Amino acid sequence: MSTTLTLLAKHRILTRPHSLLAHRLCPATSSATLHQPVRNNHAAGGQNFRPERTEYANLVSKSLLPGEREQFWMSIANREITWTTPPSTALSISPSGTHNWFPSGTLNMSQNCLDRHLPSRSSQVAIAYHSSVGGNSRSITYEELLNDVSKFAGGLRSLGVEKGDRVLLYMPMVPEAAVAMLACARIGAVHSVVFGGFAAKELAVRITDASPKVIVTADCGLERARCIPYMPAINEAIDLADSPEPSVVVLRRPEGKALGVSYEMKERDRCFYETIKNGEVTAPVPLSANDPLYTIYTSGTTGDPKGVLRDNAHAVHLKYSMSSYYSLEEGETFFAASDIGWVVGHSYIVYAPLLHGCTSVLFEGKPVGTPDAAEYWRIIERYKVNAMFTAPTALRAIRRDDPESDHTKDHDISSLRACFVAGERADPDTIRHFEEKLGPSIPVVDHWWQTESGSPMCGVQFSDVGTVGGSCGLPLPGFDIQILNPETKERITAPGVLGSIAIKLPLPPGFMTTLYNNNERYKKSYLETFPGYYDAGDAGMLDENGYIHIMERTDDAINVAGHRISTGLLEETVLRHPNIPECAVIGVNDSLKGVVPVALFVVSGNCKSTSIADDVINLVREHVGPVASMKTAIEVHALPKTRSGKILRQVIRKIANGEEYKLPGTIEDASVVDGIIEAFGK
Ligand code: COA
Ligand code: AMP
Repeated sequence: MSTTLTLLAKHRILTRPHSLLAHRLCPATSSATLHQPVRNNHAAGGQNFRPERTEYANLVSKSLLPGEREQFWMSIANREITWTTPPSTALSISPSGTHNWFPSGTLNMSQNCLDRHLPSRSSQVAIAYHSSVGGNSRSITYEELLNDVSKFAGGLRSLGVEKGDRVLLYMPMVPEAAVAMLACARIGAVHSVVFGGFAAKELAVRITDASPKVIVTADCGLERARCIPYMPAINEAIDLADSPEPSVVVLRRPEGKALGVSYEMKERDRCFYETIKNGEVTAPVPLSANDPLYTIYTSGTTGDPKGVLRDNAHAVHLKYSMSSYYSLEEGETFFAASDIGWVVGHSYIVYAPLLHGCTSVLFEGKPVGTPDAAEYWRIIERYKVNAMFTAPTALRAIRRDDPESDHTKDHDISSLRACFVAGERADPDTIRHFEEKLGPSIPVVDHWWQTESGSPMCGVQFSDVGTVGGSCGLPLPGFDIQILNPETKERITAPGVLGSIAIKLPLPPGFMTTLYNNNERYKKSYLETFPGYYDAGDAGMLDENGYIHIMERTDDAINVAGHRISTGLLEETVLRHPNIPECAVIGVNDSLKGVVPVALFVVSGNCKSTSIADDVINLVREHVGPVASMKTAIEVHALPKTRSGKILRQVIRKIANGEEYKLPGTIEDASVVDGIIEAFGK
């Protein structure tokens, strides 16, 4: 890995002070008041992600120092969460470094999200469902949500689901998805939500791994003007999967009916609302803080997805993050423009806003084209959104369609106090553009997190520094993030020197605890590279403020429109083609999606077909799904390799992106590189 000070300049890292803004991560420095929920002064901003330096240093050391960190999280746990049995111990650490927070505590996530708010919030909107594609928006109060959740939980029980059983969700962005998640949490079933953009074969891999008793799905999803029938994918995936046949609960959407989606129910199928209607009202089950809440699959180096497992202790960190970081008061409105199929959707569309008694906007649509680039601003005006989350890709799309942000002037977005971005590296130009257009009262805050973390890890800014373009700021309390030299394993403290991002153990509550059914892979993938640390799989560096810059993945994953996709999986898929003996899939920079995958492939000697590139694209669409956004496949005569046969993917990637590259001395045939240069027209 190269070590260079010029990277800061290369990535156009710019500093913009925000001295006008008064900001506190916590309202006071005495330990007695440190964790009080923040009372935001709206006019002043209430920007807890921008503390003063001493305040930040105090808070971080309390959250990390052995002895103090236990007290830190214990006091948050006791204050923020309703426990059936309050925990007596904060943390237990196994010899291998894995952690269990609040091991003796019992609680229920759905009770904390719903039941406990009823006395004060029964008629407050819990979920504001806004569909820009179906036109079927509706608001669901806390009372209504609790009714549906407790009856759906009873419905799941009647289908044989008990504590510890898995329930897989393959759902569009509809409130019923949140109902199903919360119902699982209520009875201790482990939900596993699979993003709707994955094709049947990838869905089958996840069904095989999770072995669900029940699958909850819908008859269709809506993608812009297109209606995507889900049931063919569900039925194919169940046939392909190597697991006992599950029951299937199907939501029949009015849009599906209107758009002519017909589906004949099978014997194993149940109707979603019949399940609710016939379900017994079910009370929340007390669960251990270390019982699993859910698994969510994410991509790594190989084609096998990793089932990240999270436990109920997650509730503590999520609730804390709402006030201490996102700066929301209980009862305010949060809009996470993501999908429940991704971790952001789990944490900040469903669980965290409800834990905090907020209204969560559940949005079905795209940032542009449904109907236009004004949709986010329209939503903010309509629901009086106080803070929002989106991906840089979405902001780039909005800017492309509305270069001067004229649409922001047509809508009253004065309720908004901050726009948080994550999911991929945020290019400084996009951040700067929106900071300018939205004005100083709505900072655009880049924060870094992963499926594994479940909540942001980095994203604090010093009050006297503010935004630094290209950086996601300073670590949040609970995260001892360090840059390590991948060869020597030593800590790098000098600015501008690239290294691996690692987090010193133990990890805070809410972080993944293991991989579902595969603790060995968990240890190997995350804990072995840097003993005593969690290896984040990202490379990055510090700047002179101590801010962290996340630059790229160190594994074979790429972030496409904020979605983590494994190039290993894409290569395995391309190699399914009978006439392709070799291929390389690399991430090529894209002005909209950040990075898109491109496949280079070699065709076997006797094949004369002219349509192989199209076949490759269709294969990926059919096996992985459209979400991979693979639109380019190029035939080459050979791939550059080392003498030991390793494909030089980094060289190919640099050529494709017009970056400088160096050929290793071990290259087998340097002339092959000419063919790659030609393929990319460089
Ligand atoms: N079900 C079925 N298909 C889906 C899907 C779903 N849930 N989600 C996406 N797809 C399909 C899309 O229809 C598209 O298919 P196509 O190739 O036939 O057009 C493909 O997957 C890629 O989708 P997407 O990445 O959404 O591209 P797009 O061109 O439709 O939209 C953007 C471009 C920029 C508007 C979109 O990528 C976007 O909103 N990005 C931000 C995503 C985000 O929030 N990420 C952060 C998650 S935490
Ligand atoms: P996922 O688990 O799909 O959310 O993807 C997580 C990965 O996305 C991280 O490991 C990073 O590679 C990338 N990522 C997320 N947020 C940021 C950010 N703010 N800046 C740079 N990269 C990010």
